[in-house]
Amino acid sequence: MRKSPGGCIIMWALLLLLLSLTEIEAADTLQSKNLQWHYYRYQNKCRDAEVYVKYQVEQHWKEDTTITRKLLRLLYSDCMVNGCDGSVLLEGPESERMAPQNSGLGGFALIEKIKAVLEQRCPGVVSCSDILNLATRDAAHLAGSPSYPVLTGRRDGPRTTAASVDLPSPSISWEQALAYFQSKGLDVLDLATLLGAHSTGMTHCRYITDRLYNFNGTGKPDPDMNSSFRSKMSKLCPPRSKGQPDPLVNLNQKTGSNYRFLSSYYSEILSHRGVFHLDNDLFKGNDTLQIVQEFAAGFEDFRRSFALSMSRMGNIGVLTGKQGEIRRDCRFTNAEKPN
Ligand SMILES: *[C@@H]1O[C@H](CO)[C@@H](O)[C@H](O)[C@H]1NC(C)=O
Ligand SMILES: *[C@@H]1O[C@H](CO)[C@@H](O)[C@H](O)[C@H]1NC(C)=O
Ligand SMILES: *[C@@H]1O[C@H](CO)[C@@H](O)[C@H](O)[C@H]1NC(C)=O
Repeated sequence: MRKSPGGCIIMWALLLLLLSLTEIEAADTLQSKNLQWHYYRYQNKCRDAEVYVKYQVEQHWKEDTTITRKLLRLLYSDCMVNGCDGSVLLEGPESERMAPQNSGLGGFALIEKIKAVLEQRCPGVVSCSDILNLATRDAAHLAGSPSYPVLTGRRDGPRTTAASVDLPSPSISWEQALAYFQSKGLDVLDLATLLGAHSTGMTHCRYITDRLYNFNGTGKPDPDMNSSFRSKMSKLCPPRSKGQPDPLVNLNQKTGSNYRFLSSYYSEILSHRGVFHLDNDLFKGNDTLQIVQEFAAGFEDFRRSFALSMSRMGNIGVLTGKQGEIRRDCRFTNAEKPN
């Protein structure tokens, strides 16, 4: 399909809007919440903290590239629930990480490893929540995202319970997802952008079987799903009854097991080949359709927007100054594990 001149103008206007938003908001973020650019270096806390984190992530990545999607999900699970305070890292039977929405979370071992290294080099100084934010940035960069600035100086929060976890199911509608993002201070562009992280993600079939076989109780597949895509997904996710295996499938069928950030996530959506209903819904709204078209056509725009939205998510509800604590062990509060 050829683009009309009108369409081009709209795209340009959107691009300019994205660019100016990026500048304004980046300046905004750099001053907000008392977080600082290279806090550990400039406050003489731990000069090479970020270097140690990056090195450990690179070593891990050589053995296991799935670390990118694991950390992205772990950071999302931490920041969206009670802010970016490392509370998802705490262990225990009632802890956040035991919530059903957090089943299958990974990446804990790497965060604990990095923490152990930093405790040797700079004891009691670098927070678990900063480690999680920095390590996720570095892992995303290894998978092809830009290396965006992560402001630091977060402190670790107290225990919260599994029951307080309000993360929505991945099978929710666009409207529900947007309302959830807005309740955390994020917007439509953040949602459309952060969904791009699905480019590296996987899901269990159970979250999409309704779309394949019984959409919204109709007994039929989701009519908005590309039919060749539906046959492909039906083979990967056959109808199952309780007790049968629940395979994992890639959220971007074009990425396969490469775990790379690719613009194909957005071009797949234009072909109605989004795996979740939520992904697929992106082509339905006029505003989100324009974002998807823009990101599918110009991967640089996506990368810039991704950097901004990751910073915005990393700023949600952070503790700084004298709030919270610097945990000695990411799995326990200091009171629970004195020295
Ligand atoms: C699902 O069904 C309900 C009730 O019939 C309807 O109101 C709703 O719009 C449907 N949702 C979708 C996404 O089709
Ligand atoms: C469905 O997917 C195929 C293969 O990518 C594509 O050629 C076709 O245009 C898609 N159909 C629609 C309606 O987008
Ligand atoms: C999208 O734009 C078209 C044409 O401008 C309009 O007719 C339609 O109602 C809009 N749809 C939504 C969901 O805003």
